[in-house]
Amino acid sequence: MRWELICIGVVVGWLFYKYFIVRRWGLEESGVGGGRRRLQPPRGSSGWPVVGETIEFIASGFTSRPVSFMEKRKSIYGKVFRTHILGRPIIVSTDPDVNKVVLQNQGNVFIPSYPKSVIELLGESSILQINGGIQKRLHAIIGGFLRSPQFKARITKDIENSVKLTLSSWMDRKNPYLPLYLQDETKKITFSILVRLLMSVEPGEDLEFLKTEFMEVIKGLICLPIKLPGFRMYKSLQAKERMLKMVRKIVDDRKSAMEKNESKGSGLPNDVIDVLLRDTGESDGSQQRLPLDFISGNIIEMMIPGEDSVPMIMTLAVKYLSDNPAALACLVDENNKLKKRKDESCEEYDWTDYVSLQFTQGVISETLRMANIINAIWRKALEDVEIKGYLIPKGWCVLASLTSVHMDEENYENPEKFDPWRWEKTGATVNSNKFTPFGGGQRLCPGLEFSRLEISIFLHHLVTTYTWVAEEDQIVYFPTVKTRRKLPIIVTPKRNEA
Ligand code: HEM
Repeated sequence: MRWELICIGVVVGWLFYKYFIVRRWGLEESGVGGGRRRLQPPRGSSGWPVVGETIEFIASGFTSRPVSFMEKRKSIYGKVFRTHILGRPIIVSTDPDVNKVVLQNQGNVFIPSYPKSVIELLGESSILQINGGIQKRLHAIIGGFLRSPQFKARITKDIENSVKLTLSSWMDRKNPYLPLYLQDETKKITFSILVRLLMSVEPGEDLEFLKTEFMEVIKGLICLPIKLPGFRMYKSLQAKERMLKMVRKIVDDRKSAMEKNESKGSGLPNDVIDVLLRDTGESDGSQQRLPLDFISGNIIEMMIPGEDSVPMIMTLAVKYLSDNPAALACLVDENNKLKKRKDESCEEYDWTDYVSLQFTQGVISETLRMANIINAIWRKALEDVEIKGYLIPKGWCVLASLTSVHMDEENYENPEKFDPWRWEKTGATVNSNKFTPFGGGQRLCPGLEFSRLEISIFLHHLVTTYTWVAEEDQIVYFPTVKTRRKLPIIVTPKRNEA
């Protein structure tokens, strides 16, 4: 009897190994590079049935150290480990070298892999989801436009106007000395700029319509992906449809105007719609223009990475500065000097004036490092991939954790400390594999330079116009980075200074 039990045990064990471990995780002794090596997926735990380790993962997002989930596992299993969160097995990398390979994506072995609700809302042809030649083409068109000095020169004026309008509205309130909520105020500045750079919609009814509908759309980013009336996802998709109608009309009108105009779109493009309509597909050899539906959809989908990130960095920079008077004093000093120079010479600001403020750039980098608005990059492996001796099996999701790298003391001394001076040694705008708030490789954020410019302009005018006192507030990290009380501040105008 005992002998029979041993035999059954061996057979069941073998079957389990063969079908669950070997087949599911692709552990055949294929040997990368021609050898017969047995590759190992990273060590780790799948946690509880069905929920895996999701509860612990989410709970860490509600603490002041969201990185604790990663750190605990890193200390047990090493820098790359296996877990099971949000309904699927995932390999997490906290290793900058592994993250670099995932982001560089040589050989196109990784594709984006967002949670299901995000996939539903984005749609199949969104730049955030598409792959291959069409993604590269779209990325190049948008990146080229946003990086161009002509665009930056023009958008600088628009940003200045939007910042000044919002700052002056603070004193136009019935009681200007009541607290105002910075998280809401910064959104007012950035939304109108984003809409202008994408489709040149001026402040007014149409902008308000887009704002209301877009807020409805993004509520569905983290929800149950059920597309039935009454469910959140359904409402968000309906709002996206309403936006699409409006944007499609703008695209159609622009296209007709372009056709009527003999020059057919010469001169500087006004916005992203213009650059997408003008592109003839020469760069990728397709010689085909982009379909109008594709352009309209992408205009809306591009608002998703652009909408929340910039105002949150502005808000958090103010929060960190409020808690660090020495850093604030340095920032004020640098910006006062620039203002004085400009006032004395009666010159207008150029975009290069703002981005050459070294300490201010250090403040922005330090905020990006600590706040980690986009805390990780989600990818799926299309085939077995070996990186640094780890196997990422075909079909598995890999999460390249940016937060873990930014908050690792191997990479940054006293990582929990807000220390803008640390960037004096390395240069504030460097995007190394230990500093990747904007991602990297083929999908490096095309809004990188524009975002830095916008944040610099905001900080400059804020600190040269006002002093402030911030009320007690906390940063929360789940589902996205936010301040719990929207950062209430009381401002006082600095009329007689600099
Ligand atoms: C502080 C602000 C921002 C941060 C931290 C940020 C971060 C990122 C990151 C990490 C990615 C890579 C995503 C991935 O690899 O899957 C990305 C992609 C992207 N970002 Fe940003 N972003 C910011 C602002 C913006 C703005 C203002 C815009 C629009 C003007 C924008 C447009 C995009 C687009 C279109 C992509 C997709 C690129 C592609 O897949 O080819 N971002 N961003």
